[in-house]
Amino acid sequence: MNRAVQVDDAPAPHGAGAFLQAGNRRHLLGLDGVPRESLLDLLASAARYRDKLRTPRWISEELRGIAICNAFFEDSTRTRVSFELAEQRLGAIHTTFIASGSSLSKGETMLDTLRVLTSMRVDLVVVRHRSSGSPAFLARHLGAGIINAGDGEHEHPTQGLLDLLTLSDAWNGRFEGRRFGIVGDITHSRVARSAIFGLNTLGAEVVIAGPPTLIPAEAESLGCTVVPTVEEAMRGADGVMALRIQRERMEGGLLATLGEYARLWGLTRERIAQMRPGAVVLHPGPMNRGVEIAPDVADGSESRVLKQVENGLAVRCAVLARSAAALGEVS
Ligand code: CP
Repeated sequence: MNRAVQVDDAPAPHGAGAFLQAGNRRHLLGLDGVPRESLLDLLASAARYRDKLRTPRWISEELRGIAICNAFFEDSTRTRVSFELAEQRLGAIHTTFIASGSSLSKGETMLDTLRVLTSMRVDLVVVRHRSSGSPAFLARHLGAGIINAGDGEHEHPTQGLLDLLTLSDAWNGRFEGRRFGIVGDITHSRVARSAIFGLNTLGAEVVIAGPPTLIPAEAESLGCTVVPTVEEAMRGADGVMALRIQRERMEGGLLATLGEYARLWGLTRERIAQMRPGAVVLHPGPMNRGVEIAPDVADGSESRVLKQVENGLAVRCAVLARSAAALGEVS
């Protein structure tokens, strides 16, 4: 999993989440190393934004005059649109750069592209890129605040925060003593890494399960327990997350067939029935229905998939507000 595709002299990604600590709060590069109090502050802030966002026509001037560029070098629906909506709700000036159709096709590098964009008086850059470590690299080379919207197989911190907020709602804010299962392609999953780091920090136990070819060798050093079957990941759990099979990241031969995957690892009603009463089902999206999650589980009463999306907007408001408030800080 930690096979970072380094970008030029980008630092190793492990520990990059510490950028949320004092002096670097304008960046959010990962959840690894983010202190418990910072996580809880962000979750509380997101919950307050969620209340405001539920008020019809709510709009704020909080980020008036702050310019934000959403730089998406990789496809996205939920993350890109929710950052754009959060920026509009908070009154920021914002623009979205999408790689396809840009001068990247003429050989311009990612760093030169971002240097061009930030020369247009951009304060914050929200970046998604297929290379692990690229947001940390940009944070070292640009003056703008950098928010990681998903980098390769490294982290997806705003996804991690929205997953934590969704679980906090389900668990009445108590993470200690809770058990959470993550099932699927852990090796390629930045979502799993951010969830594991955040849940560990807040005191929940994490168990992971998936095809042995998709479980990284260093999995247990991340702070989770590897179990051999999906049933074991479910048993006694307070929640489970099915990960998307990432066909676009997989080299050949890691999986037999999608049908075989669904049979051995897919979330079905029978399997989720082994969780504790009140347990919830998460999926970061986009879902491969009938592969990692059965349609009647995706749409069932335990599913929090659309709550995750709603919480994503609130979390992105909280993260943008925090980064904007820290723009004047010395790092
Ligand atoms: N969960 C997530 O990152 O979805 P998108 O790729 O659609 O942004």
